Amino acid sequence: MNPDVLRNDYRDTGLMFGPDFVFGSATASYQIEGAVAADGRRPSIWDTYSHTPGKVWNGDTGDVACDHYNRLDEDLDIMASLGLDSYRFSVAWPRIVPEGTGAVNQPGIDFYSRLVDGLLERGITPVATLYHWDLPQTLEDAGGWPARATAEAFADYAAVVGRALGDRVATWTTLNEPWCSAYLGYGSGAHAPGRTDGADALAAVHHLNLAHGLGVQALRSVVTNEPDYSVTLNFHVLRGEGETGPAAMQKIDALANRAFTHPILKGEYPADLIAQTAEVTDWAFVRPGDLEAINQPLDVLGVNYYSTARVRLWDGVSPRQNSDGHKDMGGSPWPGASDVEFVPQPGPYTDMGWNIEPAGLDELLGALHEEFPGLPLMITENGAAFADTVTDAGDIHDPDRIDYLHRHLAAVHRAIARGVDVRGYFVWSLFDNFEWGYGYSKRFGIVRVDYDTLQRTPKDSAGWFAELVASHRLHA
Ligand code: FCB
Repeated sequence: MNPDVLRNDYRDTGLMFGPDFVFGSATASYQIEGAVAADGRRPSIWDTYSHTPGKVWNGDTGDVACDHYNRLDEDLDIMASLGLDSYRFSVAWPRIVPEGTGAVNQPGIDFYSRLVDGLLERGITPVATLYHWDLPQTLEDAGGWPARATAEAFADYAAVVGRALGDRVATWTTLNEPWCSAYLGYGSGAHAPGRTDGADALAAVHHLNLAHGLGVQALRSVVTNEPDYSVTLNFHVLRGEGETGPAAMQKIDALANRAFTHPILKGEYPADLIAQTAEVTDWAFVRPGDLEAINQPLDVLGVNYYSTARVRLWDGVSPRQNSDGHKDMGGSPWPGASDVEFVPQPGPYTDMGWNIEPAGLDELLGALHEEFPGLPLMITENGAAFADTVTDAGDIHDPDRIDYLHRHLAAVHRAIARGVDVRGYFVWSLFDNFEWGYGYSKRFGIVRVDYDTLQRTPKDSAGWFAELVASHRLHA
């Protein structure tokens, strides 16, 4: 264990969270479900990508993953045993509309209907994400996110899911981390579909934003309860290095953060974003009416937070650094910012190599609260991968993970104490799972999954979290 990780500087004593604060855990369809050919599901871009040699660590795929699709009741019982208030899952588009557009696949709908009913029976509030990266392959073949038609197809898919589950889902999240879909999927190629074209990445940014707006409108037109509408973004919390730090921070902030928050929450693209990407694209894909469609009223903003990043402008002479630290296993995912370099952050680090900096979380929450006053926030993902070991007795002692969660929850508490409206916190993740380009090599779960036997074993962190959920008190 890294002794730095147990520094006590963020350990406040006995912090209480309010009675309505929601404690939950999150997963995503392709990362846990497996059963990729069951009951009419068709391939997604992640099936294709993970089956392409050299793309994913060890050649791992989501073919079986945690086999959650076939173990739904067992997994629901685990959630109940932890006393979770809420569960954030994602719906696999290729189970619902397998070809991306057209025919609806009833068995796919039935699966999520059983999931939602199973949650409600156990007193667990369902939070549904419509898109956590498993785009139907047919839509990629027709152009993928750089094509406008994908956003339109998303709206139709959203309406189908809304009609099926829109009497029972409490919170709808349209997209998870469109930054990853656009820049890693189409810019650096480190994620499916693995394309590497800056102009495509920026077109994908816009069509993902459009999908969000059209998706919220589609849901609103069909659901029958009164849910919250949301989107989940992964913010880049930036540190500047040296004199050129501020200029580099502004560029990355425009691409990573404001390219999503400004259209979604203000109905405009930032002028500096358009200017700094002028050599890559003329943004002609933004059509009249798009920004109004994107700018839908939201009830809550989903925030995913893991670490911070340090940037400066590259001097053009020394070897260019690129320790982005966030799933960047390919080339640079930053169109129009090839003069920015990402320099290594001080530790400690998780098993992902991501630096542990809880202060970045309350800083982020405070900044969002200031820029978008009145918009409630929800931590839809936070957690850590560590290389767990299983004792002879079969236990998993994971004090590093507990410490990470503890210190980030203390940061959330500090933000709340300063007046930021944070509604809840979801641990990433409930289970060890398929960690995208890293395959099964990185374990984020509070419940261990043995990939040979598929046996689930709650780690110490699961017991710790269950105690927190029950008491709402973050112990010293
Ligand atoms: C986020 C993703 C999630 C998982 C965590 C570690 O970027 O939304 O699926 O991979 O990181």
